Amino acid sequence: MSLPSPPLSPILSVRHLKVYFQPRGILPWQRKGEIRAVDDLHLDLRAGETLGIVGESGCGKSSLARALIGLETPTSGSIRYAGRELANLSKKDWRPLRRELQMVFQDPLASLSPKMTVGQIVAEPLRELCPEIPASEHAQRVAAMLERVGLSRDIVDRHPHEFSGGQAQRIGIARALIVKPKVLICDEAVSALDVSVRAQIVNLLVELRQEYGLTLIFIAHDLAIVRYLCDRVLVMYLGKVMEQAGAADLFGTPKHPYTRALMAAAPAAAGAAPPVEADGKKKKKPKPPAGDLPSPAHPPMGCVFHTRCPLMESACVASVPSLRRVGVEHYAACHFVAASDRAELQR
Ligand SMILES: Nc1ncnc2c1ncn2[C@@H]1O[C@H](COP(=O)(O)OP(=O)(O)OP(=O)(O)O)[C@@H](O)[C@H]1O
Ligand code: SF4
Ligand SMILES: [Mg+2]
Repeated sequence: MSLPSPPLSPILSVRHLKVYFQPRGILPWQRKGEIRAVDDLHLDLRAGETLGIVGESGCGKSSLARALIGLETPTSGSIRYAGRELANLSKKDWRPLRRELQMVFQDPLASLSPKMTVGQIVAEPLRELCPEIPASEHAQRVAAMLERVGLSRDIVDRHPHEFSGGQAQRIGIARALIVKPKVLICDEAVSALDVSVRAQIVNLLVELRQEYGLTLIFIAHDLAIVRYLCDRVLVMYLGKVMEQAGAADLFGTPKHPYTRALMAAAPAAAGAAPPVEADGKKKKKPKPPAGDLPSPAHPPMGCVFHTRCPLMESACVASVPSLRRVGVEHYAACHFVAASDRAELQR
């Protein structure tokens, strides 16, 4: 398989990553097979860049994110971070690295312990991961961090349930950033918030990214935010990369039929006008993906998207398309990338 050439100085390099789960089920036949949440995935992340990860619900985004920060043990494959292999690290060896790779979760309230005060929650990573910082400094650092994310230092004795979703997410961000991580993974960090609050949190992330020199992985369904925030975007389907490119390229000239279908499902959000041909005619708009996502326990043979792809041909069932270079730092896993451009015109 031809792999994307790594971008200059990747801080994180993922190769052939698989994260498989045993199916949950009471009856023996419900537990047969394995769920291929992440399946032979490659990814490179440059220091300081923001990588967006998009794809339908259940395509493996969170499983990937959890594997990257050691919450899920990879079934196989390699995750190299700053020159170290993470895929088979023990819990003990993960400990010193945890402060460098932090995550902000989707449901802010569910991810904050209801029994702890805000002060205890934000100080916890300092206690757990930064033995060199004296306990006498914790309160001051927590207060400063809360103020940095737009909250008052006076809330330290209150509990998470006393706050709105947006405020709770600010607490989650404060907890992640207090240890000054190098990589921050935001897994649907703004999805559960109201639209206006969402914009405030995205703007806060933009400021903090700059201030802390963060490398960001931003997982989201909202294509408009991904387009606004991210330098590069990776499109996932059934645990695999379908397409990856710079954000402007991906939204301007999406190559993979799945990417086009995703954009068609949210055209206004994606901001993607139908591409214009050299003769000035507009191509027909692609359609949203038809049907449901197949089960990751029984992924389709060949190209995993073939059961829903309007351009499917026999070759798509016969072999898995490799991730091929289709432009400058633009890769797509489709046998007929160029042909799909043509076929789009004919539909
Ligand atoms: N611990 C687990 N045990 C069994 N199956 C799991 C486990 N975690 C995830 N899965 C399954 O793996 C697949 C991918 O799930 P994942 O949560 O990674 O998708 P996702 O892209 O993050 O979805 P969403 O957009 O809804 O958050 C799903 O079929 C899910 O049910
Ligand atoms: S390889 Fe075939 S099924 Fe897969 S996206 Fe391309 S045209 Fe569609
Ligand atoms: Mg998820």
